[in-house]
Amino acid sequence: MAIPTFLVTGGAGFIGSNFILLARQNAWAKIINLDKLTYAGNLQNLTSLATDPDYIFVQGDIGDRPLLDQILQKYQPDYIINFAAESHVDRSILTPEIFIQTNVLGTFHLLEASLNYWQNLDPAKQKTFKFLHISTDEVYGSLAPTEPPFTETNLYKPNSPYAASKASSDHFVRAYFATYGLPTLCTNCSNNYGAYQFPEKLIPLMILNAVEQQPLPIYGDGQNIRDWLYVADHCEAIYRVLTDGRIGETYNIGGLNELTNLAVVEKICVLLNELRPCKNFDYGSLITFVRDRAGHDRRYAIDCTKITQELGWQPKENFGSGMVKTVHWYLDNSLWLARVRSGDYKIWLQQNYGDR
Ligand code: NAD
Ligand code: DAU
Repeated sequence: MAIPTFLVTGGAGFIGSNFILLARQNAWAKIINLDKLTYAGNLQNLTSLATDPDYIFVQGDIGDRPLLDQILQKYQPDYIINFAAESHVDRSILTPEIFIQTNVLGTFHLLEASLNYWQNLDPAKQKTFKFLHISTDEVYGSLAPTEPPFTETNLYKPNSPYAASKASSDHFVRAYFATYGLPTLCTNCSNNYGAYQFPEKLIPLMILNAVEQQPLPIYGDGQNIRDWLYVADHCEAIYRVLTDGRIGETYNIGGLNELTNLAVVEKICVLLNELRPCKNFDYGSLITFVRDRAGHDRRYAIDCTKITQELGWQPKENFGSGMVKTVHWYLDNSLWLARVRSGDYKIWLQQNYGDR
């Protein structure tokens, strides 16, 4: 039986490349990967697909309408999954405009091109077509310690330029369903971790700094709480929503692992003391408290009842099992790391941590 074709945007990034690898491994679909290859995009993540005839890469911008029209006509995808975004909160504080450009305007152009494509499909294919937008729990704002986790009906209260841009894109996705009938779905998930994450984000940054015996910079008092979702669990959830989710709906996806940032970094240090021991040295001694992030959300937590009850999904990994895999991956992939850390990465470290 023929398998469907997915147009995946942002597939050279962290979650997108994990999703593509899983999709090809399980023969879920043929993949067309449209990615601009910003600093966060890395084709090294996908080298195992170099000879796969059912994987095609196109370099380009989701805001490039003529290119989108051309790709849609040529490859006739059954589903579109939009991962492409500027994704780092700290960068959005320093340079917000590109977040509006890609996350808001880029998503708008992708919706416009998708709508035009969908309206001109033959009736059978039009009936089954879906557009899935990947979003974040950050759109719901910050929780007080005793507040219940975010559900799909929480109000949007974004606090960072990144979260505001994602919130805006979610609203456009919703509007294209309500106004034009485009068959959309939206997922809002918590903090992902795992292989291939660019080392500007908390977990890979801390692993790498620790291995090099550099300070581990914890913002503020380290008591901010995030919910940690293993990336493979997230990818499975995306596939479940894509195949069986109800059109027009939003699904929250979480890892059921609420932890303070300090607890996360301490866990990394304990694992490194076991896996990469250094004589008379405790990685925990590198922990350093630095100036807080502006507008730093205190707590995120996700209520996954809807996806669990409707689609039977729940995370397989707990934080302990996921972190063992993750730390091993970073210790075993020094070539990947050396490549992503050359060039612009050093400039970013100086910009974000230089005077903290
Ligand atoms: P990432 O930064 O690792 O990857 C983003 C990818 O998008 C990169 O490959 C980049 O080259 C590409 N891209 C950026 N601008 C583009 C454009 N204009 N056109 C085409 N491609 C472009 O991000 P990620 O962590 O993999 O996140 C993927 C999606 O999931 C994002 O939409 C993000 O908001 C969302 N999300 C991420 C997390 C997380 O913890 N990482 C959690 C919740 C939601
Ligand atoms: O919640 C989902 C979001 O998770 C996604 O939408 C974003 O794309 C993703 O980047 C992530 O955002 P966060 O801001 O939560 O992730 P980050 O890894 O940047 O930071 C996690 C926590 O750790 C946060 O409270 C800030 C803190 N932190 C981060 C860095 C990079 C530090 O204390 N020190 C650091 O050096």
